[in-house]
Amino acid sequence: MEVIELKHPLVEHKLAILRDKKTGTKEFREIVSELATMLCYEAMRDAKMYETEIETPLTKMKTRKIDEDKYAFVPILRAGTGMLDGIINLVPNAKIGHVGMYRDEVTFKPNVYYFKVPKDIDKREVFILDPMLATGGSALDAIELLKEKGVKKIKFLCIIAAPEGIKLLKEKHPDVQIYTTSIDEKLNEKAYIVPGLGDAGDRVFGTK
Ligand code: PRP
Ligand code: URA
Repeated sequence: MEVIELKHPLVEHKLAILRDKKTGTKEFREIVSELATMLCYEAMRDAKMYETEIETPLTKMKTRKIDEDKYAFVPILRAGTGMLDGIINLVPNAKIGHVGMYRDEVTFKPNVYYFKVPKDIDKREVFILDPMLATGGSALDAIELLKEKGVKKIKFLCIIAAPEGIKLLKEKHPDVQIYTTSIDEKLNEKAYIVPGLGDAGDRVFGTK
């Protein structure tokens, strides 16, 4: 499994604003959404296409389109929902599932409190959305819930990934491709990503 880290001046610029503790909720939310669009753009590079014919104002032509019905996006609540707008702007007909989980503040283990996905999820390629891949525990549980439903192709889209989370996913689910806008240095003693951006959920929703 290779990790795709987006390298682009625009990505670096947006990340610099996002990470800054002075950046307020509105701008933080907008940038999470913009970076999600860029991640989705990259993650769909290998999208299957079908042949179709259209008519321009000048002539008929053969072209190709993506079958949007082959995709589902699954944000991990809460912070993952901040990425959803930026993704459905690109693929408006995809279906959406939700995994609700929060990390226990002492053990750092995720607790699942909600799981609802489209009925035909096993026939779709699934992109899991979460801004932060820290210990990897939340991503791992989300992947396992989806595989239990029969999902065969999963991509994990995050804004920032820690080496520890990447290592865990590589060991347990080498078939899951990770897309990120930054691989950061490490986790601190509270399992926060350093340098990171703080608590993504609190910053998206302004709860602290
Ligand atoms: C954050 C983040 C991930 C998780 C990552 O969510 O959005 O879901 O932590 O950490 P991990 O890789 O160590 O599991 P949090 O549990 O803070 O919930 P929230 O989105 O509701 O704030
Ligand atoms: N969750 C966050 O929101 N931030 C981190 O740095 C780690 C987990």
